[in-house]
Amino acid sequence: VIDIAKLYSQTGMFTYDPGFTSTASCESQITYIDGDEGILLYRGYPIEQLAEHGDFLETCYLLLEGELPTAAQKADFDYRVTRHTMVHEQMARFFQGFRRDAHPMAVMVGSIGAMSAFYHDSTDISDPQQRMIASMRMIAKMPTLAAMAFKYTIGQPFVFPLNSLDYTSNFLRMCFAVPAEEYKVNPVLSRALDRIFILHADHEQNASTSTVRLAGSSGANPFACIAAGAACLWGPAHGGANEAALKMLEEIGSVENIPKYIAKAKDKNDPFRLMGFGHRVYKNYDPRAKIMQKTTHEVLNELGIKDDPLLDVAIELERIALSDPYFIEKKLYPNIDFYSGITLKAMGFPTSMFTALFALARTVGWIAQWKEMIEDPSQRIGRPRQLYTGAGPREYTPIGRR
Ligand code: ACO
Repeated sequence: VIDIAKLYSQTGMFTYDPGFTSTASCESQITYIDGDEGILLYRGYPIEQLAEHGDFLETCYLLLEGELPTAAQKADFDYRVTRHTMVHEQMARFFQGFRRDAHPMAVMVGSIGAMSAFYHDSTDISDPQQRMIASMRMIAKMPTLAAMAFKYTIGQPFVFPLNSLDYTSNFLRMCFAVPAEEYKVNPVLSRALDRIFILHADHEQNASTSTVRLAGSSGANPFACIAAGAACLWGPAHGGANEAALKMLEEIGSVENIPKYIAKAKDKNDPFRLMGFGHRVYKNYDPRAKIMQKTTHEVLNELGIKDDPLLDVAIELERIALSDPYFIEKKLYPNIDFYSGITLKAMGFPTSMFTALFALARTVGWIAQWKEMIEDPSQRIGRPRQLYTGAGPREYTPIGRR
């Protein structure tokens, strides 16, 4: 049935590229990755410099606007984000409809999608002003939604945003403050989490971002598109990997068990993979993983955690894997998720929240990419083709004769 010549003649070219390993779906000016060299640039700026010197909202401005803000632009942007952190009271009731033991990502996907019902005054994508309001709303409200998902699943009352705090401190407070107890944000932890958000902010056309673009290409409203991206992120081969990586380190348990797991990872007949290792684009050390490793040490030092068995397992696993011919030959290096789980756990987040934190940070990348697509005059609905390998034409058989 496959008639390649016919497919070719329809378009002038036909490619079959499962997983899109060599097909660009768009032009973009936002993020550049050189996977062989281990380079990641946001709008031309190296991730290392942004993580060292900037803050997350500055990165948001950069990704959305294309340039670093001046002091006045930054103050204005911070103020505008801060003004949008509250969610509609009805939204809080919407949360009550979920089971308490729901996964926070299930709650996130549902609540992000529900924003289109609560904020439908900013869903006209043809209006640049509405696009901007929807963008600001999403960046501002995502920490509130993530903290609400967390509080709801642990059975605690929601904590309202306190807008005198910076973005990440506000989020930490919404997660960890409890009524009638004083809560002081630890600035070292807040800075570390802010850096983690910077590292996760964008990563060009990964699966969730491509999902957002594909959903957006039909003209769907921005909240629905971001919900689609969050749903895609949830999978263990993508954003769910930090959760899976930590579970794997816990399962390994101690350094002596590592060789057994390395052997499992190399066994072709065993589906086990070393979670937090390997990347579709990086065939070198993921530059974010290096910054993440440093951040892990800072957080553990600050919390006075001297001997963390999980960190010991992680360091030894990395050492062994990086000297093993299997991993060297396949260019499998630790990715950002390898160390992020240890850090987030030390901060007090349960594993089930890890992907929600990733979604929070990636929201700005999704929006920046969505806006770029909407504003691109050559934009058309995304419509991949297929190679049909099913049955050829045949006659219908009535049910009594089958
Ligand atoms: N452990 C052991 N072997 C691996 C691993 C791993 N983590 N990752 C890839 N391989 C092997 C595969 O078995 C395959 O071997 P083969 O060529 O002999 O068949 C080869 O390396 C290539 O693997 P693919 O799955 O074809 O590579 P792909 O680019 O499609 O996958 C992915 C990349 C999904 C990230 C993969 O490396 C993986 O599953 N890693 C573990 C999950 C993970 O950490 N995901 C996080 C990604 S980063 C992010 O989302 C922020």
